[in-house]
Amino acid sequence: MLIIGSAIVVMAAMVIFAELPVAWAVAGSGVMALVVIAVNAMKTPGAPADPAPVPPAVSEPGRLDTMRMISEALPDPVILLDAQSRVLTANEPARSVFERIDLDDHISSVIRSPRVHEAIDQVLETGDGVMIDYEHRVPIDRRFELHIVSLGASPQAKRDKEAPTTLLLLRDLTRQEQVERMRADFVANASHELRTPLASVLGFIETLQGAARNDEKARAEFLELMRSQAARMARLIDDLLSLNSIELNAHVRPNDDVDVVLVVAHVAEILKPLAAESGVALAVDTPPVPLTVKGDRDELIQVFQNLVENAIKYGQSGGRVDITFSSAGDTVGVEVRDYGPGIASEHVPRITERFYRVDVKQSRQKGGTGLGLAIVKHILNRHRAGLTVKSIPGQGACFNVVLPLSTPAVDARKPT
Ligand SMILES: Nc1ncnc2c1ncn2[C@@H]1O[C@H](COP(=O)(O)OP(=O)(O)OP(=O)(O)O)[C@@H](O)[C@H]1O
Ligand SMILES: [Mg+2]
Repeated sequence: MLIIGSAIVVMAAMVIFAELPVAWAVAGSGVMALVVIAVNAMKTPGAPADPAPVPPAVSEPGRLDTMRMISEALPDPVILLDAQSRVLTANEPARSVFERIDLDDHISSVIRSPRVHEAIDQVLETGDGVMIDYEHRVPIDRRFELHIVSLGASPQAKRDKEAPTTLLLLRDLTRQEQVERMRADFVANASHELRTPLASVLGFIETLQGAARNDEKARAEFLELMRSQAARMARLIDDLLSLNSIELNAHVRPNDDVDVVLVVAHVAEILKPLAAESGVALAVDTPPVPLTVKGDRDELIQVFQNLVENAIKYGQSGGRVDITFSSAGDTVGVEVRDYGPGIASEHVPRITERFYRVDVKQSRQKGGTGLGLAIVKHILNRHRAGLTVKSIPGQGACFNVVLPLSTPAVDARKPT
């Protein structure tokens, strides 16, 4: 009967643990409660928490094996200690955090934090679990929530080398903190970007209400400036909404057949006036055959529009922008190359970050929000496509988009 009972407990614990990968992220402390319940169900009979001692249903080695098996199934680092705080088992995530951990090591040689040792001693003494913050610095800084749970040690278990007495369970907070930081940065950047044109519009309104009240010429001039600042705010909001909707659909792959050659031709047509105005010769080396991808036409237009517009705006001094196609096997590559000042190598990995601009003043003057390439990156991710950026400062920049073809290119379809 008891054997069946403990088998049910073990199975229940395994079912509970099996749910952990999802539940863990969603309800950290709730999961912790489940772990404690499961662990309590496996406590050594005769421990202080059990008023009526019953004979052990599972031997200590058997109990340790079961706990090892369960901890190996957990996604977070778990370490089991005996009554002398020596390591009985450490699951795979724990071994990857504490690279030098070995069975039988005293926990003080694994976690070198006096606070953690004091907390373990306290748990051993009182039998009550505690939770503390723990920072692990090597090889990279990581922050954890460390839960220390008593498994209830009987006097016999305290002598037994195989008896798991304390459970250490770590929840990695690094990613969560990173996301929070990104969110805070994003809000700060977005409000800053909106506040700048808003402040200038308010300034013009005050001037028009005061000093320039009766100045016809100033009024016309200021109204035009206000219009362009308001347009910039509207553009920023459009870009933010666009980024948001692309992110919401990130996991849904677009399914229409779109000819990239036509998309690029359309973009070149739209940007002809800007190129002419900027003194830039825009040349497209159009292949004679369609190159069809599974995609969203409007989003692909957005991608090439931003790349070509950037090439014209920032590479203006080069006087030329070339767009070329290449196809290899089941992909098509579209390269947008300019011959302007290029991008210094330290900026290249960051230019697809939201609001990142090499020269903020220049970008603002050109009406940029710094969101263009972030939108490009998200759209391309959704299309399972890639973007590579190459630049030799002083010689220009080259943006290469590689999209999977919906039907593999055959020789006859290859561009010349
Ligand atoms: N072809 C290029 N040559 C030089 N610098 C470039 C080029 N393309 C992009 N950059 C740099 O990368 C930054 C980010 O580009 P991105 O397209 O994301 O924003 P933006 O052009 O400033 O604003 P938006 O695209 O919203 O108009 C630009 O501000 C510019 O500094
Ligand atoms: Mg841009």
